[in-house]
Amino acid sequence: MKGISANNCTHHLHKHPVSMDIDGLRSTLNKHGQGHLLKFWDGLSSEDKEHFYKELTNIDYEEVTTFYKNAQESLNSSAQKIDDHLQPLSSGVCGSFSKTDPETLQSYEKSGLTAVSENKVAVLLLAGGQGTRLGVPYPKGMYDVGLPSKKTLYQIQAERILRVQNLGKKQTSKSGVIPWYIMTSEHTMEPTREFFAKNKYFGLQKEDVVLFEQSLLPCFSFDGEIILQSPSKIALAPDGNGGLYRALRRSKVLDDMEKRGIEYIHVYCVDNILVKMADPIFMGFCISKGANCAAKVVEKAFPTEAVGVVCKVDGVYQVVEYSEITQDTAEKRNEDGRLAFNAGNICNHFFTFDFLKHASDGPQESQLKHHVAKKKIPYVDSDSKVQKPTKPNGIKMEKFVFDVFQFATNFAVWDVLREDEFSPLKNADSNDAEIKVKDTPSTCRQALFNLHHRYVVKAGGKFVDGEGSAITTQPSDIQNGNENDQSVICEISPLVSFAGEGLEEHVSGQALVSPVTLEVTPENGKPLLQQGSAK
Ligand code: UTP
Repeated sequence: MKGISANNCTHHLHKHPVSMDIDGLRSTLNKHGQGHLLKFWDGLSSEDKEHFYKELTNIDYEEVTTFYKNAQESLNSSAQKIDDHLQPLSSGVCGSFSKTDPETLQSYEKSGLTAVSENKVAVLLLAGGQGTRLGVPYPKGMYDVGLPSKKTLYQIQAERILRVQNLGKKQTSKSGVIPWYIMTSEHTMEPTREFFAKNKYFGLQKEDVVLFEQSLLPCFSFDGEIILQSPSKIALAPDGNGGLYRALRRSKVLDDMEKRGIEYIHVYCVDNILVKMADPIFMGFCISKGANCAAKVVEKAFPTEAVGVVCKVDGVYQVVEYSEITQDTAEKRNEDGRLAFNAGNICNHFFTFDFLKHASDGPQESQLKHHVAKKKIPYVDSDSKVQKPTKPNGIKMEKFVFDVFQFATNFAVWDVLREDEFSPLKNADSNDAEIKVKDTPSTCRQALFNLHHRYVVKAGGKFVDGEGSAITTQPSDIQNGNENDQSVICEISPLVSFAGEGLEEHVSGQALVSPVTLEVTPENGKPLLQQGSAK
């Protein structure tokens, strides 16, 4: 694995100081209203002083305070609703998995797999988030949601890449490689690097897993002061998944892509357990449209759902959050009864290499505005004690990966079924069985079991209970997260099937008892079906 760093950790970097010029630093800080950062200075140990001095002199105060001012302005203007500027997507840019005939889907898939075997496809993972809601002290990709195989999100994703490479080879007899670019941040870089090395890259080649690091930005109080997290450390947070473009500019990732001849990039988030990496159908659809930028979407479930929708604002493609529109607009429906603004963004994007390169260029990247998230940010009080606030006390500034849609000259949208493709891991499960939390390890696990249950049924298998009676509950009947007696546990290794293909030979005509697993045997690489008490 190559470590390509976006210029170390913070992005506003000068060279490391040779000696400490405290007066110079103090005057810079005062000039930008940040003199408070040195309020504990005299009491620090010499080691802490040295470290803190380095941290403080690595920040470009002119730049970050300008970011803050702009972010404040956009926060004020975002209070205004933008309904009058909104336009739905025109049908010309949209395609839908469920409304496309099987032959066309097959032709998309063929074109996607051809691109894979010609080494033109890469996947790019956004994994620099802090995962605060899930609350584990390691990167989310290392999380095991409790599948029978105990696979982590990273392993599932690695195996999906391997499978798509294999499918490409089966179709064309050429072995293409899908390089995997992983954007980490200071918090996730080292653990991710070690995890992949320890697990031998889950069967991928070391040089095809490329880590790079996004930047961090200081967190600000509502009064525009950078927050001190301890007497000798400022509060820093990654600059959002749209920090991708800045990180790309500052790393060698684009050069690496160019050298390999990558033309199409699938960008996605770490937390969606159902993510179809380098999805050949999606890639093929985008290629057929000649798109340079595209989004995969799912139908928004209900008007108030907290999901951004892809639409046009003043003629430019954008993702609009529920909070930016009035309830009337959110509830607007077309003649067919569907929501007028229903293209729910699931952070699954297609970019051509040229588009990604253009978006990462200085003039474009600097047009992307920081969004403001009000957060509870631990801070040090005047007695040097760290306080954990119970309500938001400051802001984090983040760019969003989809903000580059505005640069698209040929945009496309591919609509897929939520139950097939989207189940994100955001929160921890509740300890109280009565309290249902969304997007947890158990909802992810259940979504995967349900999908694999459907794959088996589609391939001609069925599920029976211990007495041999057919299980009548359909996966779609089981509500998100509602595991019940009739829920089936069914896990199919991505090494055996990417999207349900090739399962007939293993399950057709069989009456299966949960739990069912179909996994590749390490000894001979052959798929092995295990079920019920045999397990
Ligand atoms: P989320 O917005 O869900 O944030 O990220 P998160 O960090 O995972 O979780 P919370 O909000 O702290 O609980 C969506 C995706 O964007 C990535 C995340 O890793 C995830 O894949 N992301 C987020 C970044 O790559 N960088 C960031 O600065 C923020």
